[in-house]
Amino acid sequence: MPTPFSPDPARVFAFLKRWPIYRPTPVRDFKTAAGTLFVKDETARMGLGAFKALGGPFAVARLLEDRWTEVMKTPAPADGKLRDFAKDITFVCASAGNHGLAVAAGARHAGARARIHLAATVQQVFADRLEAQGASVVRSGDTYEESVAAATRDADETNGILLADASWPGYHRPPALVMEGYTVMAEELRAYFEARGEWPMDVFVQAGVGGLAGALAHMIRANWAVQPRIVVVEPDAAPCLRESHRAGKFVKVEGPVSNMGRLDCKEPSLIAFDILRRCDVVYQTVSDGAAAAAQRKFQEAYGITTTPSGAAGLAALQAHESARTHENAKALVIATEGAVSGAKI
Ligand SMILES: Cc1ncc(COP(=O)(O)O)c(C=O)c1O
Repeated sequence: MPTPFSPDPARVFAFLKRWPIYRPTPVRDFKTAAGTLFVKDETARMGLGAFKALGGPFAVARLLEDRWTEVMKTPAPADGKLRDFAKDITFVCASAGNHGLAVAAGARHAGARARIHLAATVQQVFADRLEAQGASVVRSGDTYEESVAAATRDADETNGILLADASWPGYHRPPALVMEGYTVMAEELRAYFEARGEWPMDVFVQAGVGGLAGALAHMIRANWAVQPRIVVVEPDAAPCLRESHRAGKFVKVEGPVSNMGRLDCKEPSLIAFDILRRCDVVYQTVSDGAAAAAQRKFQEAYGITTTPSGAAGLAALQAHESARTHENAKALVIATEGAVSGAKI
């Protein structure tokens, strides 16, 4: 049975209207030897520096309403009227950095608390940024997957609200809400290409658990006037979506630690995997070296400061361009995060 996913970007836009600094992020376009390169620049998204800011806050608001209805047995009051109720509620999640920051910012905005579990591999600079958003930080396990297990136990034991960005059997609603938030990016892109009257032939989207790739692919297939090829890009140390696709079922992969820290997920999100199966996408992996080179290219050629995770889509495009023979390519890549000052990758 496919996992249901029926996002309504209009609901997210309505929520974002009340967010202090929401505005569409820019699309930059560059002429290259292979044609036109479009870059969706998420490096300054909502002051949090990554597209993930679209997901956590929206999900926090919806889940608070769910909790209200569960406890009070009445429909929740309008957004913004839940602060008093929210102050005793803690959102719990694991994060490779950005999702935790989005949840922490969302909880703070709503008047709730946040407790974020970080694996040992996550750099201290992310812990500092989380604390600056008012979250408490717990170091849990050596891998991302261990931090997810710790967050799940924590929420169970403390009656916190588990707000993971990945889904698994029996756990769908919170990550589906996070992905609904990401659909805003697809709508911003659609508006941009519609106004321009020109569409990309290839869309490169990097994946960790696949939430962003799933949300974008769903929206592109649902309502873009001109259909591109969609390339889902993973580190070669963590191709969990490609391997799940090949196996036709949810697969956990093994591999070394990647320099694409935010993409270094060894297990996919169930909803994302299900959506991507229906969306006619192809998979490509990139090496740590290619991602680091693409990070430099972003900086030197396009003036965009990002990380290997943020540059993975460009790395995939570059591998692909060397094989291309014509000069009219139109490709979209996403710089999914800005470089964090003080971070090594
Ligand atoms: C900067 C960045 N890019 C890409 C991703 C991948 O997103 P997803 O895990 O939804 O596939 C993440 C996830 O944390 C991220 O922080």
